[in-house]
Amino acid sequence: MDRSIRTVDDVLRLLDGLFAPDADRWTATGASWWDGFYADRSKDVPFFAAKPDENLVSYLDRGLITAGRALDLGCGPGRNALHLDAQGFTVDAVDLSPTAVAWAADRAREARAGVRFHCGDAFDLIGTELGGRYDLVYDSGCFHHLPPHRRISYLALLDRVLAPGGHFALVCFAAGDQGMGSELADADFYRESGLHGGLAYTPESLRHIFAGLTELEFRRMRDEPPESARFGEPFLWTALFRRDATAR
Ligand SMILES: C[S@@+](CC[C@H](N)C(=O)[O-])C[C@H]1O[C@@H](n2cnc3c(N)ncnc32)[C@H](O)[C@@H]1O
Repeated sequence: MDRSIRTVDDVLRLLDGLFAPDADRWTATGASWWDGFYADRSKDVPFFAAKPDENLVSYLDRGLITAGRALDLGCGPGRNALHLDAQGFTVDAVDLSPTAVAWAADRAREARAGVRFHCGDAFDLIGTELGGRYDLVYDSGCFHHLPPHRRISYLALLDRVLAPGGHFALVCFAAGDQGMGSELADADFYRESGLHGGLAYTPESLRHIFAGLTELEFRRMRDEPPESARFGEPFLWTALFRRDATAR
């Protein structure tokens, strides 16, 4: 008989366990599905190309964000982390998948970039391997793969690591016309024990979740043609938020 639930963390882990191992992208360790996904580097996946997000380039070009300490959450093969490094940021980058992190490290070696890559669950690494505050927290495509209850962990993580006046930038599946993510209601992901390839968000839902931050820009990602030096897909939202400078 299991009567081990005592803390919020215990509940979060119990809910993680409702998503059967290997049935979807989110598993108890999460890594196995993603490791298979990254195993073949030549696969035709748009974000496998070593190009930064068009919105990230645009924030930098317009001076909306400036160099400082950056954290790339769910960095995959490191394309945005490497761009931030090249733009003068000191970068920590985290991913669940050892295969993705090994690929990102190879890219960093080739580019002579100083990014520090960390392999593991972002929620476990904060406070252990990763410390201090970041001027920029960047997430391209990680948040929408989290089960709904992990938004609690995500907001706690932002609260802990985002510096006062720091920026949070998010790229995630847009609900609607060209949508890629699932539009199931939160409760239905638990009923069906799966994340259906990721969660779609409306602008209202994102504004509700990140209500503690100030919105600076919110738009669809621009569609970038294959020959572009930037990554861009119009089925994604791009959002830039800032934390109150007087926050503790
Ligand atoms: C769609 S991929 C995006 C990769 C990369 N940001 C990019 O755009 O090229 C999502 C990534 O999030 C990672 N991920 C998902 N949940 C995570 C977690 N809890 N902690 C760290 N990484 C996570 C996955 O391993 C995967 O590499």
